[in-house]
Amino acid sequence: MRVIHTIAELRVGLRGITGIVLVPTMGNLHQGHLDLVRIARQHGQFVVVSIFVNPLQFGINEDYSKYPRTLEQDCKALEQCGTDVVFAPSEHDLYPQPQQVTVELPPVANELCGAFRPGHFRGAATVVLKLFNIVQPYIAVFGKKDYQQLYLMRQMTAQLNLPIEIIGGETVRASDGLALSSRNQYLNVAERTEAVFLYQNLVRTRQAIMDGATDFLKLERQVMEVLGAHGWRVDYVAIRSQVNLAEPTAGECSLVILAAAWLGQTRLIDNLEVLREG
Ligand code: PAF
Repeated sequence: MRVIHTIAELRVGLRGITGIVLVPTMGNLHQGHLDLVRIARQHGQFVVVSIFVNPLQFGINEDYSKYPRTLEQDCKALEQCGTDVVFAPSEHDLYPQPQQVTVELPPVANELCGAFRPGHFRGAATVVLKLFNIVQPYIAVFGKKDYQQLYLMRQMTAQLNLPIEIIGGETVRASDGLALSSRNQYLNVAERTEAVFLYQNLVRTRQAIMDGATDFLKLERQVMEVLGAHGWRVDYVAIRSQVNLAEPTAGECSLVILAAAWLGQTRLIDNLEVLREG
């Protein structure tokens, strides 16, 4: 496995290589990321994992400066699961000048997480498009944990005719059900015990939908209230269409329950897909 820090060196290193699969990450890797690498390995001949904490996708008051940077530890883990190249560019290499050319996304980028993190998805899509152009993969793998991001990356790729297939990897969970996330380590012991309550409420909501509940606003409100009563500060709970992340039409069967909420200083997101009978 090679660790490459500059675009120029990467271009030379990848010359003549085909069948590249890219797993874009911000590092501080956990089992969820490693599972994406495993999927990448299954689909392509050559796996590139990018590690870059992208300033463009963090708001002014967000955790950019404290986001954990653990390159050495990440490389050890990646070496063991069959990564060919780790691409870890510097901020200056990726943004040698202020990034004024950005990706304009569909309006749904301003809903759900986008409503609470203005510009976040524009920043994420812009860096991913740059990484696509630099690495030139034919497949890229993203986690379903960031469901809205995965949807928007699919839209960007399709609408800009990028010759790249986007694959979504299932969310990996701790034994109690909490979705793995680099931000879980911000939680103190009491918060970590409480954190699974978000997932448990998504599971309850999924069951209610499968049992025939159709008043989605009521279901969303119930989860927000119950989380609020447990001391969470809820950004949103929303039941949407898997197809376009819009509010579901009456007969729509492929749904997803998405939520984002704060426990103390930590913002957690999670989602569950649900198929109901038509
Ligand atoms: O999901 C992430 O870690 C980031 O948003 C991504 C896709 C690596 C872009 O910075």
